[in-house]
Amino acid sequence: MAVSVKSHREIELMREAGRILGKVLNDLCKEIKPGMSTWRVNQLGEDMIRSFGCVPSFLGYGGYPASICVSVNDEVVHGIPSKSRILKNGDIVSLDAGVIYKGYQSDAARTVGVGEISKEASQLIEVTRQSFFEGIKFAKEGCHLHEISNAIADYNESYGYGVIRDLVGHGIGTQLHEEPQIPNFRQERRGIRLYEGMTLAIEPMVAAGGWQVRCLDDDWTMVTVDHSLAAHYENTVLVTKNGPEILSLAED
Ligand code: MF3
Ligand code: CO
Repeated sequence: MAVSVKSHREIELMREAGRILGKVLNDLCKEIKPGMSTWRVNQLGEDMIRSFGCVPSFLGYGGYPASICVSVNDEVVHGIPSKSRILKNGDIVSLDAGVIYKGYQSDAARTVGVGEISKEASQLIEVTRQSFFEGIKFAKEGCHLHEISNAIADYNESYGYGVIRDLVGHGIGTQLHEEPQIPNFRQERRGIRLYEGMTLAIEPMVAAGGWQVRCLDDDWTMVTVDHSLAAHYENTVLVTKNGPEILSLAED
């Protein structure tokens, strides 16, 4: 299957899905406080998604048991919400969510601090976020896919961080995961040419230490092998002739 270019009608629906998801994540980030369980985070997020008439796309996806992936500290992605996992002051937590609006998907993630966090942790969060913005400078018709990958990789590596290789970004539309795969680490080849109307979930996953990850016995949670802190930042992005349009970033 080739990479799809969305029609004007499809793009309108993806704009609305993204607008809702951006708002949900903004609101959910504000709710994060020490003493809260990761299960509560999931419950609040799922209620917000449904209040907008959307379906949480992660719930049941490949058997995933929740609506929001909640990943704490050395957990990179796919943390499973739990009533016994209590957020504490100084933790960092990644919130990853997907919504379906009238058959169209949006996928986005944010990492935030719980209470007061260290300088090292806040730098990791900020650099991971900025690397997304470095990457999407190339989400423009005529650029090539791996220009995005290389920009993300170089920015993070200039801080000595490890860019996760086992997990990648992806195309998105009626399906959560469509072609192409979007690596965040440096690529030898330039990748496919980008065209207006392609919709991409671009998602740097970055560790303060090494890039190696492993999966916990729950078969979902990905953690850094060296237990260094990890951050994740993701948005659904539309490629246009003039550059990126970020679909899942709400005004605050
Ligand atoms: N945002 C992630 C991704 O793009 C999370 C999906 S995993 C799921 O792959 F199982 F929770 F859906
Ligand atoms: Co994704």
